[in-house]
Amino acid sequence: MSVTDSSCAVDVLIIGSGAAGLAAALRLPQDLRICILSKATLSAGSTPWAQGGIAAALGGFEDIEQHIEDTCRAGGDLPDPAVVRRVVEAGAEQIEWLLALGMPFSNESDHLHLTREGGHGTRRVAHAADHTGKSLMDTLLAAVQSRPNIHYRERHLAVNLITTHSLGRIDEANRCLGAYVLDLDHDTVRTFQADHIILATGGAAKAYLYTTNPDGSTGDGIAMGWRAGCRVANMEFMQFHPTCLFEPRAKSFLISEAVRGEGGLLRLPDGSRFMPRYHPDAELAPRDVVARAIDAEMKRLGIDCVYLDITHKGAAFIEQHFPMIHARCLEYGYDMTRDPLPVVPAAHYTCGGLIVNEAGRTDLLGLYAIGETSHTGLHGANRLASNSLLECLVYAQAAAEDITRHPLPPHPAVLPDWDESLVTDPDEAVVVTHNWDELRRTMWDYVGIVRTTKRLERAAHRIELLKREIQEYYAHFRISNNLIELRNLVEVADLIVRAALARQESRGLHFTRDYPELDRAHPPRNTVCDRTVAGSGALGNPPTGSAAPFMCRMLPPAETIRQDESAAR
Ligand code: FAD
Ligand code: SIN
Repeated sequence: MSVTDSSCAVDVLIIGSGAAGLAAALRLPQDLRICILSKATLSAGSTPWAQGGIAAALGGFEDIEQHIEDTCRAGGDLPDPAVVRRVVEAGAEQIEWLLALGMPFSNESDHLHLTREGGHGTRRVAHAADHTGKSLMDTLLAAVQSRPNIHYRERHLAVNLITTHSLGRIDEANRCLGAYVLDLDHDTVRTFQADHIILATGGAAKAYLYTTNPDGSTGDGIAMGWRAGCRVANMEFMQFHPTCLFEPRAKSFLISEAVRGEGGLLRLPDGSRFMPRYHPDAELAPRDVVARAIDAEMKRLGIDCVYLDITHKGAAFIEQHFPMIHARCLEYGYDMTRDPLPVVPAAHYTCGGLIVNEAGRTDLLGLYAIGETSHTGLHGANRLASNSLLECLVYAQAAAEDITRHPLPPHPAVLPDWDESLVTDPDEAVVVTHNWDELRRTMWDYVGIVRTTKRLERAAHRIELLKREIQEYYAHFRISNNLIELRNLVEVADLIVRAALARQESRGLHFTRDYPELDRAHPPRNTVCDRTVAGSGALGNPPTGSAAPFMCRMLPPAETIRQDESAAR
């Protein structure tokens, strides 16, 4: 495959090179031609930033049952029990697989050292000190680079999926055939054709002004899948991590929950603790509870941050367990062995995403979604700490096995080249930068940790205007990285707000003053956005008319994946 060709064809195209994308490539048979795309370098994405670790019940039957219980409790009773069991039961095998690849997990005498995080009833998180994600990426990348059948392209930004319906073949079942991809070094859009396409593009926390995520978390896969006709679930559940270093120069540097897991305490400026007032598990309550408590204390006292104190564990312990965090904090003048760290919550993880079945299949034939891009049913209303990397690995394997067992024949369609005949060079790039700022501030101010219907409606109104402006810009001007990411981000922000308006209760990460209690009149339900269902009067629609009305329905987990889906394939 040549990078200078205007198009290329492979068996499997994987969009995204984080834990999910790389693990899928490694789990696929070695006689398949695989191409992995990353819009930045291969080691971009959230994965290398992961600190705490990978949750895995390694302690046998009781541990598995308790991990399942902890996941469901933290998830506000919304996780799909069958999915939770499948993922949790696969934990030990995933850790074995990583060990076989050479993953340098932290050890304690002759076994893995396990740390603890909020919401876990016991020590259950396998880790490599406090740089689990970096070690994981190094391990997976080394394995990928030794496989001659796996090609990769850095700085290749997927723009749109190509489907049979987008080619006008609407009599056929809608099948994904490939993607248009902007080669950022040559400023050219290339056509990638594949029998199977896996979206592994990570989350969308960049929709918020303050986030723990890298710049590329712009929800590209969710937006591309949604535009192509996939359903999306539970986008209102955006997880805010409670403890991000309060230091502008650090650009939202995370202080791992493992710091609290190993004994760290949250304090107010006067040194007093506040978490015991909010939850019996105090600092180790689930993340949504801790983030909301910090937010409430900051608002109550009018303070800029609270403090995370682990000084009582001593310098030797801190340097051994948190070498990376300690070193980074020192760069900004904070010595966590001597002083409490100033911390604030920030947007961290996208619990919702493209709806997939147990094999990672989306609603589109040939299209899979894995990792943070997907909604598998594991997280429900709030992800349990360190369950994300586990989910990436389990679903990467499931998707790879499904492709191996049920390969699709090549589609005869010849994919047309990207058409630039009607666009010109952009005239005012300020439109893009201005709208980036406005969108992220709107989400932070109106769709944050504590919500109200009025604020959500305000956000919906602004997002509708931004969407129109960005769409108009996209229709008239040559595309760029910033424009494509903004177009995806506004689409995802729209989904978040509509889903938040549709959920008329408070559950897990979605807390609204207008409905502060659980909806006990119904069983726990997912928020399912579906643009293939007509319904302009549906819950969650914005006050102004949308160019493409869609429905936001509340469905129990068992009905979220339609029974007829597998049969249809
Ligand atoms: P990512 O790792 O985010 O990778 C996305 C990939 O897609 C990148 O290669 C990117 O370049 C590419 N991409 C995106 N859009 C496009 C496009 N349009 N075209 C081409 N390529 C594209 N989870 C845990 O379980 N344990 C932890 O300890 C933990 N700690 C965390 C700490 C931090 C600071 C953060 C931010 C997250 C943490 N998480 C943790 C969450 C976890 O890291 C992520 O959910 C997980 O790594 C996501 O993996 P992924 O493969 O889905 O996506
Ligand atoms: C952390 O280390 O606190 C992050 C863990 C996670 O997001 O799962």
